Amino acid sequence: MKAADAPTAEAGLSAIPRHVAIIMDGNGRWAAARGLPRLEGHRRGVEALRRTVRASIDLGVEYLTFYSFSSENWRRPAQEVADLMGLLKLFIRRDLATLHDADVRIRVIGARDDLSPDIRVLLDEAETKTRANGGLTLIIAFNYGGRAEIVRAMRRIALGVAEGTISPTAIDENLVSRHLDTAGVPDPDLLIRTSGEQRISNFLLWQIAYTEFVFLDLHWPDFDRAAFEAAIRTYGARERRFGAVSAVESKTG
Ligand code: IPE
Ligand code: IPE
Ligand code: MG
Repeated sequence: MKAADAPTAEAGLSAIPRHVAIIMDGNGRWAAARGLPRLEGHRRGVEALRRTVRASIDLGVEYLTFYSFSSENWRRPAQEVADLMGLLKLFIRRDLATLHDADVRIRVIGARDDLSPDIRVLLDEAETKTRANGGLTLIIAFNYGGRAEIVRAMRRIALGVAEGTISPTAIDENLVSRHLDTAGVPDPDLLIRTSGEQRISNFLLWQIAYTEFVFLDLHWPDFDRAAFEAAIRTYGARERRFGAVSAVESKTG
């Protein structure tokens, strides 16, 4: 047995999803329930994110995607938007060296152009510094919207067609995937959303075609290793059919 398998076996986890995507929701409600400002909920949310990165490394998850700021989150009060931008900067400044030491490769998806220059520089630095790392791939969806991502991909493809580098008959699912921000990343196996909401909120629309969804009632700042392992156990008990007949049935039938 590989050393990396030990925590998995210990936790009784049969199948570890290769790619886990998380909609971190409920920071505001977590804070409100305690009479705290929403910012405190977001701060505690960053701690939950750190815990989840560590757990993913331990468990052998290969890709971990966090929905950190949606293209619709600009509709929030200016102060909250500024707080969320500030927390992202703080996270990169404080955690980049530790993540790099842990062999984590960072990727950022979303519309980079609308962000302030200081954030763009930090995100570029995080990606460049960790580019050659071979451990967990940590994908931060920031100023990300699934529809906007598909539109960006369509523009790139249309440009290729106009320039003569892409033939219209060569456009297939694979080519579309390769023009998305997530190019080269396998589709998520498991998507977790906290806070009890059961919606996608414009996250990874193309990529979740056959993803298993787990919705949890707890708020994101309360998400811990036990909750993560429970979600992975739920995932492990599912049968993924991808449109085919049940493997159990086809064996007996
Ligand atoms: C998730 O928590 C964090 C972001 C969307 C950035 P929320 O801020 O959405 O918290 P609730 O949903 O209002 O409780
Ligand atoms: C989704 O959460 C976006 C992130 C977690 C970054 P929201 O709280 O913004 O989603 P809605 O508005 O409840 O759908
Ligand atoms: Mg929310």
